[in-house]
Amino acid sequence: MCGIVGAVSARNIVPVLVEGLKRLEYRGYDSCGVAVHQDGALRRARSTSRVSELCTQVKTESIEGGTGIAHTRWATHGAPVVHNAHPHFSHGSGEVGSRPGRIALVHNGIIENHEELRAELTARGYVFASQTDTEVIAHLVDHHYDGDLFDAVRRATLRLRGAYAIAVFCRDEPHRVVGAREGSPLVLGVAKEETFLASDAMALAGVTDRIVYLEDGDVVDLQPGRHWIERRRDDGSERFETVVREVRTVQAHSGAAELGPYRHYMQKEIFEQPRAIGDTLQGVLGITPELFGDGAYPVFKEVEQVLILACGTSYYAGSTAKYWLESIAKIPTSVEIASEYRYRDSVPNPKTLVVTITQSGETADTLAALKHARSLGMPHTLTICNVATSAMVRECKLAYITRAGAEIGVASTKAFTTQLAGLFLLTLALAQVRGHLSEEQEAEHLKAMRHLPVALQAVLALEPQVIAWADEFSRKENALFLGRGLHYPIALEGALKLKEISYIHAEAYPAGELKHGPLALVTAEMPVVTVAPNDALLEKLKSNLQEVRARGGELYVFADADTRIESSEGLHVIRMPEHYGALSPILHVVPLQLLAYHTACARGTDVDKPRNLAKSVTVE
Ligand code: G6P
Repeated sequence: MCGIVGAVSARNIVPVLVEGLKRLEYRGYDSCGVAVHQDGALRRARSTSRVSELCTQVKTESIEGGTGIAHTRWATHGAPVVHNAHPHFSHGSGEVGSRPGRIALVHNGIIENHEELRAELTARGYVFASQTDTEVIAHLVDHHYDGDLFDAVRRATLRLRGAYAIAVFCRDEPHRVVGAREGSPLVLGVAKEETFLASDAMALAGVTDRIVYLEDGDVVDLQPGRHWIERRRDDGSERFETVVREVRTVQAHSGAAELGPYRHYMQKEIFEQPRAIGDTLQGVLGITPELFGDGAYPVFKEVEQVLILACGTSYYAGSTAKYWLESIAKIPTSVEIASEYRYRDSVPNPKTLVVTITQSGETADTLAALKHARSLGMPHTLTICNVATSAMVRECKLAYITRAGAEIGVASTKAFTTQLAGLFLLTLALAQVRGHLSEEQEAEHLKAMRHLPVALQAVLALEPQVIAWADEFSRKENALFLGRGLHYPIALEGALKLKEISYIHAEAYPAGELKHGPLALVTAEMPVVTVAPNDALLEKLKSNLQEVRARGGELYVFADADTRIESSEGLHVIRMPEHYGALSPILHVVPLQLLAYHTACARGTDVDKPRNLAKSVTVE
């Protein structure tokens, strides 16, 4: 989703801005742009193509300067066309003293009162050149500008409703960039004679590892080698006060991970799963609540139920964990889609462990759902998150950081399986505190977890067989996925993977529901993918498969080695390793990831950046 980079320096900063955008490309975008202060004027280049094309454009047009801002846009208000791409400039003469074209601005988020502001600014003489909600902020800053950009931004933010991270500079103050955030991520990068702004620290890798995480209500003044932060007071006074935020040294991690022998990041990330799970479990010598942070024990002891909040693939990780939490830890668990939970009336119980699951730690809906749960009087919060420095980790009292490493492919893979590993540890820790985990059981579970990297390698070795299936799938327009119990969320995740990257319509059902509707869709044209572990539900599942075969449906079954399901006419079987007990979902999701990946490759889609989707969804 939208990405921001900004800088003030004595050197030409355009290469740093463009490199920063490249590092943010993985978030998903449909246009991009850069603007600098050059020879006393605002100059910009914008493109609906890739950042590499923007790079050529800035070179051709000799766009250079020490003060600038850059942006990747994921369209919300207004189509992905050049005139809607950021940076936006203020236009129109406005009131006395205001000159056209002096403010340049980029924005991530959504301004909810943009229509009202647009009408007001139009009446004042401002001319709108785009359909975006963002452009109102450029004009609003211009309207408040009286020789001090910091003050103008402070005053403008008081009028904004919604979510934003912005970076702004002004033609009349050549060595200054001002940023502000409310609900969307923004960090400050500190270096000796330069200062930077970015949506995340990864964008500044190679430039600086000294980062300040800005908080909601912050307005920041950037000048070469120095910065100043003020925070809007929350007493309703509309006044600001100076704050000093900690400068943290973050581990420099490059977004430009090498592809190595792989065709796409998604394939690389699927194959990284043995390493990612190994890293995530590294250092886990035994089960103890403190794996989730100091002070976890009394919380785990007190809570009576678990409420999981998440979006997308992370939601399916939570849906899987519900089965574990109820069967192993015997704790009532509900799983809610974050964007639904935050807007519905629910019955809060203060003795709830609120668990958010998020790869990025920046998903706007999940962050808002967490705050909503807290506002309802549920103080015990824990996150399973892949980014240690993210807003979510800072917001939650307890955390387990998965070590999947940077995930570039929009379709989540290694983040999902590492989330499952973290959630299984949480299940065991809660089971222990609640007296449902003997030492023998703990040792057995840990042994199985440590063996996961080897077991995953065996599943990845099935890739050639999956490729043969993918070839057939690539000619279909619909697919059905079936699973039961613990593997129903895995079927859901398999269908999500297939639809998001191959654009084949896919749906998942708990197999027992087949006869209540979806069976009507079954024909030879509808492949039915089935997750068939050798668990207590296998015999029931086999009956469901018969229901499909009897209607001429074509079955594609991932069966554990020890199940007696053999290939026959209309029944294709890929044999998985032996049944892996409670951890089986972590293995069974992998061939579904591979099936989606190879089907998408066969159809020639943009696998790592599927149309319309973003990696990091920082707007509601
Ligand atoms: C987007 C991504 C998904 C991800 C979801 C939740 O839709 O494309 O891969 O599952 O957001 O993101 P999170 O970072 O909160 O896990």
